[in-house]
Amino acid sequence: MARVRMLLDCDPGLDDAIALLIAAHLTDLVGITTVNGNVGIDHTTHNALAIAQVAQLDVPIHRGAARPYVNEPIDAAYVHGATGLGSVEVPDVTGTVVSDDAAGFIVESARSIADLELVAVGPLTNIADAVTADPDLRGRLGGFTIMGGAAVGGNTTATSEFNIWADPEAADVVFRTMAPFTMVGLDVTHQVLLGPAERDRMRAAATPASLLAADLLDYAVARAGELRGSAGAPIHDACAVLAVTHPHLFAGTDHPVEVELTGTHTRGMTVVDARPMAETDRPIHVLRDADSAAAIDVIVESVLALGSS
Ligand code: RIB
Ligand code: CA
Repeated sequence: MARVRMLLDCDPGLDDAIALLIAAHLTDLVGITTVNGNVGIDHTTHNALAIAQVAQLDVPIHRGAARPYVNEPIDAAYVHGATGLGSVEVPDVTGTVVSDDAAGFIVESARSIADLELVAVGPLTNIADAVTADPDLRGRLGGFTIMGGAAVGGNTTATSEFNIWADPEAADVVFRTMAPFTMVGLDVTHQVLLGPAERDRMRAAATPASLLAADLLDYAVARAGELRGSAGAPIHDACAVLAVTHPHLFAGTDHPVEVELTGTHTRGMTVVDARPMAETDRPIHVLRDADSAAAIDVIVESVLALGSS
């Protein structure tokens, strides 16, 4: 079966980095765009270049938005470390970005590449810029998937997940203009936790990519333990890649979803209307369940396969 043609918009970020590694193996990755999110745009862009270098990925990387539409930039350095890759040392970067116009690259790729799967795993600023530049963007894509939001709960506030919380106005544009799409939210990513056993499998393989992934996972698992008291770390963004390449591993339902912009306690919330009578002409496919064991195995096996090719 032909490999999925994917464009990954990301804010590396520990889990973004693992998502990039598995996308390198599982997909025909046509390009990477970076956005301000987990850390600042300089770091997320540097990290994308470094991960692509380790994965021997020869794909165009375009730098994107340096700040959200309205919010002052926030980060998730408390999770991902000051550089965005924890305490992991990456090789000196030899590559450079092709442009600073991530949105333009997304628009042009959708126009020129058939059946392109656009996957966004950071704040949605670049996607909102792209659909504002080309209102027909969604119709030109084979599919659109985000890691973001939640039907229930949040991780950055009681009600809001980081990618939405970081730029709610951009998310609102995307939810109003890019349906139908798949929302890979915390409801499902919190079911896919990688821990010491997966780290040890990667370290034992001892390839450049598997050692990098093991180091990233080591840091993520330690922080997850400190912050959540959990034995494993949710590799959120890898789930969004798998939702495209391995859809059978997930189950979800279609709903109207709105992004809350003005709530005192709920700004950045994805309000999923799960009432049976709720109707909409812009359905969002909200994932609810994952075959966690199978997803975890695909993630590990994909990282291990990178070094053997
Ligand atoms: O809430 C999880 C999301 O926020 C992931 O994409 C992670 O990388 C951070 O960006
Ligand atoms: Ca991310």
